[in-house]
Amino acid sequence: MTSPSYRVIAFSGSLRKSSVNTALVLLAQRISPPELSIELVDWVDQLPWMNPDLEVDPPEAVVRWWQTLRDADALLVGMPEYNASPTALAKNALDWATRPPGDRAITGTVVAFMSAAGRSGGANAQTNISRVLGYLGAVMVDEPPVQLTAVGDRIDADGHTDDPAIIEAVAAKLAAVVDALRLRDAAPD
Ligand SMILES: Cc1cc2nc3c(=O)[nH]c(=O)nc-3n(C[C@H](O)[C@H](O)[C@H](O)COP(=O)(O)O)c2cc1C
Repeated sequence: MTSPSYRVIAFSGSLRKSSVNTALVLLAQRISPPELSIELVDWVDQLPWMNPDLEVDPPEAVVRWWQTLRDADALLVGMPEYNASPTALAKNALDWATRPPGDRAITGTVVAFMSAAGRSGGANAQTNISRVLGYLGAVMVDEPPVQLTAVGDRIDADGHTDDPAIIEAVAAKLAAVVDALRLRDAAPD
């Protein structure tokens, strides 16, 4: 068996107990290809609200988040959509990821979103923030999109599902993450 060559961290942008976006992250962990080791970061709610004043002497959670990002090859986010935007939880974690200016923790990280939401499937939440993170130096894996609607009764809170469409969508995203990491590593400096 191949040992994982890439370290992926993953968080969910929902705090809801039966969150379908957390379920997608847990499913990804379960069906992860051998090239990826996916570690769940379940403490992004401990990050303080973004306040540049805090960057002078960053709190422990912020230092830990920056280090966790720097140690990872990729970041996977279960991204719910609230009012056509990322949830405040996800946005706050991603805002911190773009700091400090000049040495952004997210620089060079391969980033992929998976969403289960209402009618939009999370497309609105993903689009704007994806463009900005790409501009700030993340390597965005937007294709193939994981933007699922009405999946609440087809996946349980632990990410168990026998719906091939959900499994295939998540598997395809993980395969695209592997491809992006290989491409990143093959690129000349
Ligand atoms: C305040 C609020 C706003 C929402 N806005 C949207 C929206 O703009 N588009 C959408 O597709 N779903 C929207 N939804 C539905 C959520 O995306 C859906 O409930 C989703 O399951 C939440 O993710 P979770 O199960 O991971 O908590 C909204 C839900 C809430 C609570």
